[in-house]
Amino acid sequence: MTETQRTLVLVKPDGVKRNLSGEVLRRVEAKGYTLVALELRSATRELLAGHYAEHEGKPFYEPLVEFMLSGPVLAAVVEGHRVIEGFRSLAGTTDPTTAAPGTIRGDLGRDWGLKVQQNLVHGSDSPESAAREIGLWFPNL
Ligand code: TYD
Ligand code: MG
Repeated sequence: MTETQRTLVLVKPDGVKRNLSGEVLRRVEAKGYTLVALELRSATRELLAGHYAEHEGKPFYEPLVEFMLSGPVLAAVVEGHRVIEGFRSLAGTTDPTTAAPGTIRGDLGRDWGLKVQQNLVHGSDSPESAAREIGLWFPNL
């Protein structure tokens, strides 16, 4: 049985600044996933408050939001078989220092000491998160 899903992928400001947007999209497409929507844009505090609602109040929340406002973000809706789990697997674990080689974060992520937020990409973590995040970033989809 097919299980086609959609997920929200973001290339964060560090990835856009380092000219890695194409490399991220290349890996997504090489895996066989399809781009459904794609837009380079500047986030706003309101959008990020919704996007990172689950992290509000955590010590890394404010630095994370400031970082996400520091430059344009490439937002994409990506479709494919079990793509939510599949993109998280392509991205690697949260901390680039320990993310497995072969993953986006493991191969390309840099660790600048405490700045774990500079980990290049975001991917929705569940069908519920994906639906919520896609609604926030692409309300007309
Ligand atoms: P989280 O949703 O836990 O990670 P992921 O992006 O792998 O789903 O956290 C959201 C972002 O917050 C994460 O990408 C980087 C940042 N972050 C920190 O800066 N410090 C932390 O301790 C954690 C857990 C996350
Ligand atoms: Mg997350």
